[in-house]
Amino acid sequence: MGVPSREKFIIGNWKMHKTIEEAVSFVAELVPLVQDCHDQVYLAVPFTAIHPAAEKAKGSRVIIGAQNMNDASEGAFTGEIAARMLIDAGAQFVILGHSERRHYFHETSEFINRKVKKAIKEGLQAIVCVGETSAEHEAGKSQEVVKEQLTATLAGLDERGMHQVMISYEPVWAIGTGDTATPEIAEEMHQFCRKVLAEVVNEAAAEFTQILYGGSVRPENAKQLMEQTDIDGLLVGGASLSLESFVKIVNYCTQKETIS
Ligand code: PGA
Repeated sequence: MGVPSREKFIIGNWKMHKTIEEAVSFVAELVPLVQDCHDQVYLAVPFTAIHPAAEKAKGSRVIIGAQNMNDASEGAFTGEIAARMLIDAGAQFVILGHSERRHYFHETSEFINRKVKKAIKEGLQAIVCVGETSAEHEAGKSQEVVKEQLTATLAGLDERGMHQVMISYEPVWAIGTGDTATPEIAEEMHQFCRKVLAEVVNEAAAEFTQILYGGSVRPENAKQLMEQTDIDGLLVGGASLSLESFVKIVNYCTQKETIS
């Protein structure tokens, strides 16, 4: 059986950057520049920019989403935001379990698992992040850690639910450091994630689930990473803040065509 042709995704994660005005003008300029790209273009923007950015992106290839949410429907949770509110603002997806959330805000895999289930239930697409720290990497524990995270964050999900989930493998040692995983290391970890998905959910889900790579993605390394069989997309932090570098990454496919 051949490799399934999974749709590819390029996702920008702005983290805590950009005002409404900056976000709207970025989206306005981005839309015509990525019109002919074959891949799906997603942008995870700050909460305040979701509505205006989604309005600007309407009818285009660009899909707007959020970077976090709470697992409760509503309630006395000062400073938190619910799935329904994100959808109301125009978000179509949400990043969950990013290593910065795990590290700075002490989010556990169990909490992330509840958020993933809530996001699916409310109709959002969930981008679930996993990845080992540099100490774990050096101790040769990458697979063990990623398996633990995948097993706990996807606990209780079935094949149907997985149609609303994408995984992003983001080695913490590669995030914001300029120290990208080599395409070979990334591919090996992606194959491993697929093996775990087969155990945790089933074989079908392991085949159709998109597994993205994140961690110091740049225009210079995007193409090589995307050429790997099991890399179905990229989660781009720092390089998504500049229109020029993000567009270069998104259009890596077009570059490939011109080259060959
Ligand atoms: P980076 O961030 O591209 O700046 O390394 C990636 C991420 O945290 O999603």
